[in-house]
Amino acid sequence: MIVWILLVIVGVRLCGVLGSVDPEFEHHLCTKTPYRVIQNPDVSEVRYKGCTPKKLWYVIRHGTRTPGEDVASLMRSRLFDIRDLIVKNKNCTRYSDFAAWKPHIELDGKKRLTREGESEMTFLAQRLRKRFPKILSKTWNNSTFSFRFTHTSRTEASAHFFSRGLFDDGVADVWYPQPLKKDPILRFYKLCQKWRVEIKKNPQSLIELEAFLRSDLFSTVVTNITERFNLPDGELSVADVHLIYTTCCFETAWDKTELSPWCSVLSRQEFEILEYAEDLEYYWTDGYGYELTTQMGCVMLNDVFNFFRSKSESEASFYFTHSGAILKFLSHLGLYQDSVKLRHDNLNIQRLWKTSLIDAFASNIAFVLFDCSGIDQVLTLHQEKPVILPGCPANQDLCPLSVIERIYEKSRVQCDFEEMCHASEKKSVYDSVVSTMWLAYDSLKLLYFR
Ligand SMILES: *[C@@H]1O[C@H](CO)[C@@H](O)[C@H](O)[C@H]1NC(C)=O
Ligand SMILES: *[C@@H]1O[C@H](CO)[C@@H](O)[C@H](O)[C@H]1NC(C)=O
Ligand SMILES: *[C@@H]1O[C@H](CO)[C@@H](O)[C@H](O)[C@H]1NC(C)=O
Ligand SMILES: *[C@@H]1O[C@H](CO)[C@@H](O)[C@H](O)[C@H]1NC(C)=O
Repeated sequence: MIVWILLVIVGVRLCGVLGSVDPEFEHHLCTKTPYRVIQNPDVSEVRYKGCTPKKLWYVIRHGTRTPGEDVASLMRSRLFDIRDLIVKNKNCTRYSDFAAWKPHIELDGKKRLTREGESEMTFLAQRLRKRFPKILSKTWNNSTFSFRFTHTSRTEASAHFFSRGLFDDGVADVWYPQPLKKDPILRFYKLCQKWRVEIKKNPQSLIELEAFLRSDLFSTVVTNITERFNLPDGELSVADVHLIYTTCCFETAWDKTELSPWCSVLSRQEFEILEYAEDLEYYWTDGYGYELTTQMGCVMLNDVFNFFRSKSESEASFYFTHSGAILKFLSHLGLYQDSVKLRHDNLNIQRLWKTSLIDAFASNIAFVLFDCSGIDQVLTLHQEKPVILPGCPANQDLCPLSVIERIYEKSRVQCDFEEMCHASEKKSVYDSVVSTMWLAYDSLKLLYFR
């Protein structure tokens, strides 16, 4: 009898799976993390003795979106096959969740802002307004507020829903400039040919990710999930596991009430491993992996300096952009930099570079200029919380503007974008190296698509 009960328990554990979903799983969804998981609920007015806020510069990643067509079509095809395989195994405890699963109502392949993304923007603006009423509790005025978004529907919609949270009235009048196809501030990296060729499209940038996906550690994730569902050996690939994870992430972001069944198949350790794979990818293409990637952000920082030094009436400037800008800008500022580079063989769960925390949907970086008895001081906020820029006084939120300008002296005087982004002369040699690597890259993309 006892043996029988044990077998049943073991059977249940083997199939369908973990007794319960990891309560912390929402903190491991990388760049698909919904902002509600990390938002700062404290809306008390931000005050510093003897200081008055004068100007606010704010860059914001668009809110929760839908995937592009590549991922959407996999969710409609291969994920259905996986679901059917699971459902056939009626012994799975959670099989009914999978039987009932169908593509989410938000799913399309358009990278469109979702309902959740709309609320992220509106609530973010409402909280901001409460914290800085001296700058923001005003009706809209074309000369004091400026907005700018990229040439995409998700950043445009983000700007509109953000405005709704910022203004009681006059929202309909808010003026938005025509977006640029390649905005030199909001999406500076798109204009950097050298970065595009040598980093973004260079398979070399993905070798740590590739090695990690081929590691024993990652293989056991695939094996464990396969076994958990009683599926035949080799039924699930690395790409399948990534698809399961991506679906879990998106469905969690889209819907705060329903638990996605795809999240319930993953253990804490598996979330951490899948999370690391994505962090590795972003580290090497949009972060500290290569110097050029971190250098380019100087154009954005100079925009902050120009805005603060300008004599114009403009008091608040809001930019709506993408993950690529947020990560490169954070890296330029020197934030969340680990002492050792992230590699396939040094997974550290205490690392600073965690996109789940630093690059969630609606991630945001603000600089607020204060006048403190005639001295310009700057408050830097990331995800609505003060951060200390490396080199600024460690024991206080505010840092004198003159100190920041000194810390980033190089960014100010040596920010020749044309020069740094000029693709190398040795292009022909480089091309031949790239062409031999493309094969490897294509197979990697099959393994692990975005
Ligand atoms: C389900 O469990 C029963 C009894 O434990 C077993 O005979 C059967 O093979 C299992 N089915 C699958 C698909 O694992
Ligand atoms: C807009 O703001 C500026 C600066 O605060 C002010 O001078 C101007 O009168 C305002 N315009 C309107 C229409 O409120
Ligand atoms: C706002 O200002 C811009 C120039 O900065 C101008 O082109 C635009 O027409 C103005 N919009 C409104 C509604 O006043
Ligand atoms: C895979 O399963 C084994 C056996 O249950 C377990 O010891 C191991 O930690 C799991 N590996 C991962 C990466 O979850």
